[in-house]
Amino acid sequence: MKIMVVGGGGREHAIIKKIKLNKDVTEIFALPGNGGMAGDATCVNIGAKDIPAIVDFAVENKIDYAIVAPDDPLVLGAVDALEEKGIPCFGPRANAAIIEGSKVFSKNLMKKYNIPTAQYEVFDNMDAALKYLETAPIPTVVKADGLALGKGVIIAETREAAMDAVKSMMQDKAFGKSGETIVIEEFLTGPEVSVLAFTDGNVVVPMVSSMDHKRIGDNDTGLNTGGMGTVAPNPYYTDAIAKECMETIFLPTINAMNNEGRTFKGCLYFGLMLTPNGPKVIEYNCRFGDPETQVVLPLLESDLLTVMKAVTEGKLSDTEVKFSNKSACCVIMASKGYPEKYDKGFEMTIPSAISDKVYVAGAALSDGKLLTNGGRVLGATEIADTLESAIEGAYKLVSEISFEGAYYRRDIGAKALRAREEK
Ligand code: AMP
Ligand code: GLY
Repeated sequence: MKIMVVGGGGREHAIIKKIKLNKDVTEIFALPGNGGMAGDATCVNIGAKDIPAIVDFAVENKIDYAIVAPDDPLVLGAVDALEEKGIPCFGPRANAAIIEGSKVFSKNLMKKYNIPTAQYEVFDNMDAALKYLETAPIPTVVKADGLALGKGVIIAETREAAMDAVKSMMQDKAFGKSGETIVIEEFLTGPEVSVLAFTDGNVVVPMVSSMDHKRIGDNDTGLNTGGMGTVAPNPYYTDAIAKECMETIFLPTINAMNNEGRTFKGCLYFGLMLTPNGPKVIEYNCRFGDPETQVVLPLLESDLLTVMKAVTEGKLSDTEVKFSNKSACCVIMASKGYPEKYDKGFEMTIPSAISDKVYVAGAALSDGKLLTNGGRVLGATEIADTLESAIEGAYKLVSEISFEGAYYRRDIGAKALRAREEK
């Protein structure tokens, strides 16, 4: 089987390494992939948003199965376009990917179907938003409606900061069209949990839970990033909470999407907050999370391609999806300066003995040398019987990898360890 994976980051590398284990797979293409995954896939220089080129490539190369991993192509209709040419795909169609593509859509969906989430108001007029903020409860959260590279969410601790956020989105167009409409919502508190779930529109099968570390600095300080590390499972996510989430969030969401004529097939990501009033949805993503995938997929014991094809064919209820009881920790190594300005082009070395455990996100191959080529450069994941050993193992991997200006958080997993002790 010839497989095509659309995307080029650590998440895609984790998917590719797992897909490779299926013995029917003869070739894997990554569009565009990155230099660090060249040993696992054939990288093709086609951007993940260039849907006509993606479709042409798939047709010309007789691709048997396509996996569309990032949000942009899903929201832009890559799956619809590939399916039109008869290519089976993993990922939702555009009419379902809107659950991530528009926050207004997802908030209204949750309100209509009584799915627990933060209270909110929608604005497409700046003056009305500013007026609302004069008396709104503070802190508050200002969100751009559309995709904004994970940066369209501003937690405002003061009224002024909230008003500035609104102006930056609606007047200065900091996020372009994505910020023409905004959501202002209630600030929630509590531990965050990421739950990725396979769904074929009939059943929903949650994967092992995980915990992201979004801030750049230790102890959750500094700017938000795409994610600086993850652990799985998430100790806050008990069996009782999992059951509650299935009943109040996961199944109602799948049913709501069916009811709206927007059946979701693929990986649905539930960003949850365990508030004092129960679990609530912070956000939906229409895809695997990054870097959650780099801890979740290594713990998957079932064959990923088999599960994905079952999702596509609507046969998930007949397919075993088994996860290991072990723990996993992924530490992201980033370029110095990220998430702001950083330099690229530093040579890096990843010893071949550990390369199976390294997911490369931002690297380019040049004259046989692997060079840094992004903010988040790679993730190193260790699996072990205990969370302590997984964390220790991941940091040991990190210590064996080097490039100039390498930055990583020193406390990935520390909060999870503390949470477990509190229990
Ligand atoms: P996002 O970019 O949508 O993943 O949001 C970034 C982060 O903002 C989330 O992981 C939460 O930590 C935080 N956040 C989003 N919405 C809320 C909310 N209503 N209350 C508190 N924190 C929030
Ligand atoms: N780690 C959060 C995301 O993938 O959006």
